[in-house]
Amino acid sequence: MFHNKADGDQVRARVAGCSSGEEAYSLAMLLSEQCDALHSTANIQVFATDIDEGAVARARAGLYPESIITDVRPSALRQFFVKIDSRYEVVKSVREKILFAMHVLRDPPFSRLDLVSCRNLLIYLDSGVQNQVLEMFHYALYPNGYLCSSAAPNRRTRSKNCSAWSGSTGRKRRSCRTGRR
Ligand SMILES: C[S@@+](CC[C@H](N)C(=O)[O-])C[C@H]1O[C@@H](n2cnc3c(N)ncnc32)[C@H](O)[C@@H]1O
Repeated sequence: MFHNKADGDQVRARVAGCSSGEEAYSLAMLLSEQCDALHSTANIQVFATDIDEGAVARARAGLYPESIITDVRPSALRQFFVKIDSRYEVVKSVREKILFAMHVLRDPPFSRLDLVSCRNLLIYLDSGVQNQVLEMFHYALYPNGYLCSSAAPNRRTRSKNCSAWSGSTGRKRRSCRTGRR
């Protein structure tokens, strides 16, 4: 994702159905680490959205209970969190990379994305809606962008190649890589 990015270009990611923010913060942290490892000068921008206003507010707060120490590796805990009383707050440098917003999945999408992450959401949608949403993600992604989603039950969305499900529309095909979590 960082290859072919010139000075100041953005690496743009979207987390759809971000709930209270853990997925978006994890992604921003991983992208930051990768950016540093590659000595990239790209800017990371994560768009994190959810239909639930309360969840978006919790995500924006970026405050998590002490129990996260069982899920977050110690190096990430040291680098990306500050302990405040009995809670851990995500550091400003990570929070600045994420724009949290209320957004319904089927609203007009964010565009020019390098990665879309949609974990534990498609599985709750029926196959017709899944396909509409996947098609939107597909066109929001740059060619060779990444789609990361949990397993979806229907045959078309299980395809490893997004072209397989977009191809039936008769519109221009793009490839994108998918990964399951
Ligand atoms: C099971 S949670 C997954 C949270 C996160 N992706 C994760 O894996 O930790 C599903 C989230 O999707 C949100 N959601 C459900 N339907 C949605 C829709 N139509 N548009 C946007 N968000 C939606 C819910 O509010 C909830 O926060």
